[in-house]
Amino acid sequence: MSAICILGTQWGDEGKGKVIDMMAKQAKVVVRYAGGNNAGHTVVVGDRKYVLHLLPSGILRPDIVNVLAGGVVVDPWHLAKEIEGLRALGVFVEPGRNLFISRSAHLILPYHRAQDHVMERLRGKGKIGTTGRGIGPAYQDRASRIGLRFGDLEDPDLLRKRLKAVLEFKNPFLLSHGEEPIDGDCLADELLEVGTVLLRGALDTGAYLRTALRENRRILFEGAQGMMLDVDLGTYPYVTSSSVGPGGVASAGVPPRAVQEVLGVAKAYSSRVGEGPFPTEIEGELGERIREQGGEYGSTTGRPRRCGWFDAVAVRYAVDVAGVDRLCLTNLDVLSGLPELRVAVSYLLGGKRYEVYPAGLAGLDEAEVECQDLEPWKENLSGIRDFQDLPRAARDYVFFLERQLGVPIPLISVGPDREQMIHRDTWS
Ligand code: GDP
Ligand code: IMO
Ligand code: MG
Repeated sequence: MSAICILGTQWGDEGKGKVIDMMAKQAKVVVRYAGGNNAGHTVVVGDRKYVLHLLPSGILRPDIVNVLAGGVVVDPWHLAKEIEGLRALGVFVEPGRNLFISRSAHLILPYHRAQDHVMERLRGKGKIGTTGRGIGPAYQDRASRIGLRFGDLEDPDLLRKRLKAVLEFKNPFLLSHGEEPIDGDCLADELLEVGTVLLRGALDTGAYLRTALRENRRILFEGAQGMMLDVDLGTYPYVTSSSVGPGGVASAGVPPRAVQEVLGVAKAYSSRVGEGPFPTEIEGELGERIREQGGEYGSTTGRPRRCGWFDAVAVRYAVDVAGVDRLCLTNLDVLSGLPELRVAVSYLLGGKRYEVYPAGLAGLDEAEVECQDLEPWKENLSGIRDFQDLPRAARDYVFFLERQLGVPIPLISVGPDREQMIHRDTWS
C-alpha cells in the first residue's frame, strides 16, 4: 500500500494545486476525496495558468488516472464545463480514460445553489461567506438521506422518481423564500443530457482504488480547502461542510491506514476568504501589500482574501490533528521586501495561554495573539532553487517554523510555476 495525502493546513488556498501537480509526476492516480467546486486549485505551467475547481490536479499529466471519489459533491454542469474548458486549452480529459467518477458521489443540483444563497441571506450578519456553489446543502442532503448520487443518472426512471420525492421538500422551501420552484421532469431531462458524456467515467471507484493499492500503484489523495475549514475540526460554524483531513479519505472506500504519509501545505503567511475568526489578520496597508504581492484574490469567487501573519498556533494544531509528516512551505517569495515579519506563537484567552489551537472554543476573535518578530529580507527569491542560496533571514524563517511546528519542511515554493520549488531533501 502506498498512498500520500496532500492537504492544506490553514484556511485553504495554500498552493495545494501546484504541489499536487508536482507530486503527481511520481504517481499513478490522483484522487479528490472531499469538497466540490468550492475549491480553486491553481497550476502554472510556463505561460499557462490552469485553475481546477473539481477536476483533480493530476489532470494536466496525461498518464495519470484522476478520480472523483465518493466523498466529493459533483455539480454535473460545472464538471462538463470544466472538462470542456480544459480541452479547449489542449488538455486531454476523457471520462472513462483518465477520469473516473464515483457512483456514490452526491450531486449538487440547482436547488442546492438556491438554498445556499437563501441560507446566507437569512444568516444576515452571521453569514459564513460561502462560495455559493451549493456545497453545504448538498452535504446536508447526503446526511439527511435525500441526496441524489452520480450513479442515479444511470437509471432514468429511478432518477425521476427520486427527484419528484425530493422536490416535495425543496419546492415549498424555495417558494417561501421568493425563489422559483423547480420542475422535476425538466431537471431530470437536463441531468440525463449532461450525464451522457460524464457517465462514461462512472465507476465503483472504491474497488478501483483498493485494487490500485494492492498493486502498489502510487496514489495521491488531494485535499481541498484547509484543516481550519474542516466541518468538525475547523473554526465551526465558519467552515465548509466536509471532512478536509485525512479522515475524509476513508469515504473514498479505502481503509484509513492506506494513507502512509501526510504532506501538509502551508503558506508562509495566512489568508482566509469569507467570514470567521482570523487571529493574525493584518488590517490596513500592510495587509493590502501582502494581498497585492501574493495576488491573494479567490481562485473560485475572485473575492479579495484576508491576509495575516503565519499562525503557528493554527498550523501546529493542523499538523497535530492531521498527522502531518512533512510540510511544503509556499509563497515564501511573497514576503520579500516587507518592512516587518512576524509569526504568531501563542494565543492568550481568558487568562490562559494556548500554543495549540483551542478547538471548539468560542470567542477566538477576542484572543490576544503573542507574536515573535523575525528579521525581514529584501531579496527576490523567485529564481532560487537551492536552499543555501536563500538569504540568511529567509533560511532562518524556515528554521524557525520547523522548530515551532515540530515537522520538517523539505519543500519550499518560491513562485507559482511548477518549476519554482526548492527541494531540501531528496523526495521519493
Ligand atoms: P490551492 O487552493 O491551495 O490550490 O491554492 P490557490 O490556487 O487557490 O491559491 C494559491 C495561489 O498562489 C495561486 O494563485 C498560485 O498560482 C499561487 N502560488 C502557489 N505557490 C506559490 C508560490 O510559491 N509563490 C507565489 N508567489 N505564488 C504561488
Ligand atoms: P481550496 O481548495 C479557501 C471557504 C469559503 C467560506 C467557507 C464555506 O481552493 O483551498 P462553502 O462554499 O464551502 O460552503 O464555504 O469555506 N472555502 C474556501 N476558502 N479555499 C477553498 O478551497 C475554499 N472552499 C471553501 O470562502 O468561508
Ligand atoms: Mg484555492
